[in-house]
Amino acid sequence: MDNHLDTIQAEALVALESVHDQDALRAWYAAHLAKKSPLMIALGDLGKLPKEQRAEVGRRANEAKRALEAAYAEREQAIQAETLARALQENAVDVTLPGRRPRPGNLHISTKTLRHIYQVFGEMGFQVYEAPDVETDELNFGLLNMPSYHPARDMWDTFWLDSGALLRTHTSPGQIRAMREMYPNPVRVILPGKCYRYEQITARSEHQFYQIEGLAVGHGITLADLKGTMLNAARRLYGADRIVRFRGSYFPFTEPSVEVDMNCILCDGAGCRVCKYTGWLEIAGSGMVHPVVLRNGGYDPDEWSGFAFGMGLERPLMLKYGIDDIRYFYGNDLRFLRQF
Ligand code: FA5
Repeated sequence: MDNHLDTIQAEALVALESVHDQDALRAWYAAHLAKKSPLMIALGDLGKLPKEQRAEVGRRANEAKRALEAAYAEREQAIQAETLARALQENAVDVTLPGRRPRPGNLHISTKTLRHIYQVFGEMGFQVYEAPDVETDELNFGLLNMPSYHPARDMWDTFWLDSGALLRTHTSPGQIRAMREMYPNPVRVILPGKCYRYEQITARSEHQFYQIEGLAVGHGITLADLKGTMLNAARRLYGADRIVRFRGSYFPFTEPSVEVDMNCILCDGAGCRVCKYTGWLEIAGSGMVHPVVLRNGGYDPDEWSGFAFGMGLERPLMLKYGIDDIRYFYGNDLRFLRQF
């Protein structure tokens, strides 16, 4: 019997040598120390032995059990230590590696361009005047010579708010606000801001976009002043070779009204894909401030005159940089934004 126990113990200890993880250790325990293991069966069978052998074999069996339990505990600790050591090595931080530089953000192309525009017009004596995005019907239309029955209202599809107010469809209502605030002084302001139109979104049209309005009111201001201002702005913003032309147009709040074109920035007027082979690019709607609008702003049209213009921001930028879809401006795609 003693021999049998020696064999059990020796075999168990040999098996334990090839145990290197928790799963294998659990399996080893089941095979060598759990209820149905040979050692436990031998202990259970003690009663079947002749009386004189029982004490001695019992002592030897318990000795074997203690030896296996001690070996088990020792191996368990070793495995835990190994696991920890491996984890520490695998997750080690190499403090000698060079750091990764955080990438600084950059201004949005629209913000950058707006600032450039402020500078160009600032040098011509224009102040920046901010007007609200939420406007009244009266300021957006009525005071701009478009009473409620006026068909020209159809030129601007409007987002109405429950309160009866609206999201401005253009920056022109700021003209009235600026004049009312500055009367009786001459006015020379640009009014930048977002405009909103209830339009189908396409590659060319967004339902929100920037405009930069310009307004100059004074004594003896003429269409020539408008042309000079537009020419200087075009050259400062788009290059020294620009020339501008006026094309007759219609806006209810200017009389006469003109569209301002400049020769194409890509082909200088020869005709290309960007200018659709016309040689010209449209940059602003404009004209001489209508006498009704001057009066609504507080200025007597017999003494005062003025010009106004409204330029989009995104469409000219699309032409300048070859951006083929206006939705990139509001898409927040870093791959687009980081290019500028
Ligand atoms: C106006 O909004 C007039 N208030 C401009 C004006 C001001 C005329 C002062 C006379 C005196 P218009 O609807 O054409 O005009 O818009 C002006 C510019 O806004 C366009 O040339 C274009 O660049 C831009 N724009 C208009 N709708 C959109 C749109 N859906 N998406 C992007 N840009 C637009």
